[in-house]
Amino acid sequence: MDGLTLDRVGPASLAEQISHQIEAAIAEGSLPPGGRLPSWRDLAAQLGVARGTVKAAYEKLIDKHLLVTAGSAGTRVVSPLPASITRAPVITDADRLVPQNFLQRSDQALVFQLGVPAHDAFPATLWSRLYRQAVQFTASRTGYADPRGLIELRSALASHVAIARGIECSPEQIIVTSGYRGGLSIALRAIDATGRQAWVEDPCYPVTRLALELSRVHPVPVQIDEAGFNVRRARELAPAAALAVVTPGQQAPSGVTLADHRRVELLQWAVEAGSWIVEDDYLAELHLSGRPANALAARGADRVIHLGSFSKTISPALGIGFIVTPLPLARRLIDVATWLGAPPNAAIQLALASLLREGHYLRHLRRMRKLYAERRQCLLDTLARFGIDAASPAGLSVMLPLPNGFDDQQLTVSARAAGLGPTPLSPWFADASRCRAGLLLGVTNVLERTIERDCRRLLALIGDPIGRMKPAAAH
Ligand SMILES: Cc1ncc(COP(=O)(O)O)c(C=O)c1O
Repeated sequence: MDGLTLDRVGPASLAEQISHQIEAAIAEGSLPPGGRLPSWRDLAAQLGVARGTVKAAYEKLIDKHLLVTAGSAGTRVVSPLPASITRAPVITDADRLVPQNFLQRSDQALVFQLGVPAHDAFPATLWSRLYRQAVQFTASRTGYADPRGLIELRSALASHVAIARGIECSPEQIIVTSGYRGGLSIALRAIDATGRQAWVEDPCYPVTRLALELSRVHPVPVQIDEAGFNVRRARELAPAAALAVVTPGQQAPSGVTLADHRRVELLQWAVEAGSWIVEDDYLAELHLSGRPANALAARGADRVIHLGSFSKTISPALGIGFIVTPLPLARRLIDVATWLGAPPNAAIQLALASLLREGHYLRHLRRMRKLYAERRQCLLDTLARFGIDAASPAGLSVMLPLPNGFDDQQLTVSARAAGLGPTPLSPWFADASRCRAGLLLGVTNVLERTIERDCRRLLALIGDPIGRMKPAAAH
């Protein structure tokens, strides 16, 4: 009801203006059927009119059968609306406004969906307890908190990244963000590379390329190989790039860990060119085989902007992550975060700080690594039983190559209609000549008791008896 504006000198009475604008809001849908209106007293105080004026406006709409009074439940819009009210849709094609990347997403995890945790293993009871305690604690804190994030969480994160990722930093270098995208947005503004080039991996998380383009930075795709990002090739293509965005821990989507010599080359280039490396550490310690490699920021503290996220390790629903700032860029990153960003709410921050400090997080990661490794193997074994041996492990997914030219995007639309959530591989490639069709099958929600049926349904959708396909190499 903020939008009501009154003309105090015009011919229409104040009550008429109020009733007219409420009627228009009902017709537009901004006041939905069953929606509650403010009390006469509250609305009168807000508009600076007598209570009787609002009462008269409401009564007029009650007479027109648009509002009903329901005792202590207050005054509400009738539901359903009378046929006399023709609702003018404000947006005729709502799908137009749904962000593209999110068309593939859902609130409930689907089988094979990528990038979501196991819905049956989320530590819901523990998290609820920590969050409840944190909410109680924040109830007495009503001021503006430190824009870098609460010191409790920044300290816990500094200790965590020292132990788990080999990064030595002080809590002063940590900025709490809303996740990878929040961190990337701050980093791109701080670097200010408008009109310049940025190295990206090919294939690459499509969100990274889109974010760069939106920031008017030109992504230069560099083909990855068995050692990860090819620095020599990148230098040939764009020696003066302002930055590189990479996933050294486990390349997205292939899962390849950036080889040691490539790490050295990448850091050398950044120092020589005075450029920045944005390290997307989205999977952090969720390494399903062997020990996770240290973060790149562990060695290149001065040139690497390390972006952490809890979207994969806990849940994207929390919307929380962090930046470890390199000292030469710390002032600017903190300024951007302070004036153009804001950390997530204090309760989430405190709950996460407790999770880290009390050792629950590392325990949770240990359990998830074991569970996801079992689920990944279960999926690979099941596919093998169906005669598919071209599928390969790739981080928290299994990559299933399809013949070139196969419409993997259309397939995922059909799969979704059938309740399955594979991700198409082709949109991850920037260079059409290298583009490969395939599916990324998330393993986190694979269940042993249904996997056979799920695979059968997926393979039936692919249609062509898969044994006769000539799968192309993934990259
Ligand atoms: C490569 C990569 N980076 C980062 C993320 C996490 O992004 P956010 O923290 O914005 O949820 C994802 C999630 O799918 C990803 O695949």
